[in-house]
Amino acid sequence: MATHKIAIIKGDGIGVDVVNEGMKVLDALAPRYGITWDYTEFPWGSDYYFEHNEMMPSTALDTLADFNAVFLGAVGHPDIQDNITLDGLLLPIRRRFDQFVCLRPSVLYPGVTSPLSGKKPYDIDLTVVRENTEGEYLNIGGFAYHGTPDEVAIQTSVFTRRGCERVIRYAFDLARERGKKNHVTSVTKSNALGFMTIWDRTFSAVAEEYTDIDTTSLLIDAACMDLVRRPEMFDVMVAPNLFGDIITDVGAIISGSLGLACSANINPDRSVPSMFEPTHGSAPDIAGQGIANPMAQILTAAMMLRHLGEDAAAAVVDAAVLQLLEQGETLTPDLGGSSTTERVGSAIAEIVSK
Ligand code: NAD
Ligand code: IPM
Ligand code: MN
Repeated sequence: MATHKIAIIKGDGIGVDVVNEGMKVLDALAPRYGITWDYTEFPWGSDYYFEHNEMMPSTALDTLADFNAVFLGAVGHPDIQDNITLDGLLLPIRRRFDQFVCLRPSVLYPGVTSPLSGKKPYDIDLTVVRENTEGEYLNIGGFAYHGTPDEVAIQTSVFTRRGCERVIRYAFDLARERGKKNHVTSVTKSNALGFMTIWDRTFSAVAEEYTDIDTTSLLIDAACMDLVRRPEMFDVMVAPNLFGDIITDVGAIISGSLGLACSANINPDRSVPSMFEPTHGSAPDIAGQGIANPMAQILTAAMMLRHLGEDAAAAVVDAAVLQLLEQGETLTPDLGGSSTTERVGSAIAEIVSK
């Protein structure tokens, strides 16, 4: 009988709806796997900001330190500048708990149509390992002469040898563990941005230790093209923060929908919480309509289960989503169906409860 202490941050827009369905599924499987969920829900996000002028209280990060994991929907509101919302909540959590791996699988599942023609199930089956704490996301920079014609804006990108090495090593270990194509693709832009050769050099050095794994190095522009042209070539991709962000939206849409794109912000050291949130955002264009696909959040819940050591329960969640996709009857509009968020969540909860 395991108890897992989980911080719930539903956030904004569709984040609230999809987390509700994720929790429905987690609750449904709990008795069967002897799991007790010790949830604490935090009302942090844009509504909190409208009331308190901050996205979360100054003590929030200390509060989260006591949890085994954070289960988050999405943050972002059309009436608040995005860098305020994200640098007020999401990015500080990733940094504080040094969640240096952002793991984002893209799989073309049976029953799902790729916008790329002629793709069969599992023709796309890749995982992006995104560096998640440094690069362009450290928020070191600012403005001079703000708002004047002489305005200057500077933001620095930071790559450390240690930061590159640990995430690249994680990618090689993952390729080995997957045992599929034994292949890692590295993505940079060191033709134009020469400082990124620190990543390339580190990649080459780590690769030498993994003689059983083949490698390819691509520039980000070509990597985006190849994701569309021949996604079959990819197994594990490892990329700096910003490029990892970009290629995972591409990976999501070629495998059917952002509504299927699960994600985990991981610190392999379990003494601090990792954070589980799907790749997608708060989707203001469909928020409040009850039609967001909860599968990304539910598959993200499976990643959380796996991180918590609940492998059997995780496998059941993955299988339940696959079953629904293959049946093709209970799907949200992004996948060509007409079911609601709640209906899809309930159908998955029902499968995992049996
Ligand atoms: P988005 O991911 O919210 O939406 C992009 C498109 O995908 C939209 O057309 C949306 O309707 C669709 N979509 C996304 N998730 C879906 C789902 N589950 N089911 C069906 N369709 C789905 O990206 P955006 O519009 O660029 O960003 C909206 C807001 O979210 C912004 O404020 C942005 O900063 C924020 N954002 C937050 C996170 C996060 O909290 N992790 C991630 C990405 C974007
Ligand atoms: C993501 C998001 C975030 C990121 C934004 C909202 C800061 O796009 O998780 O992919 O760029 O990391
Ligand atoms: Mn993104």
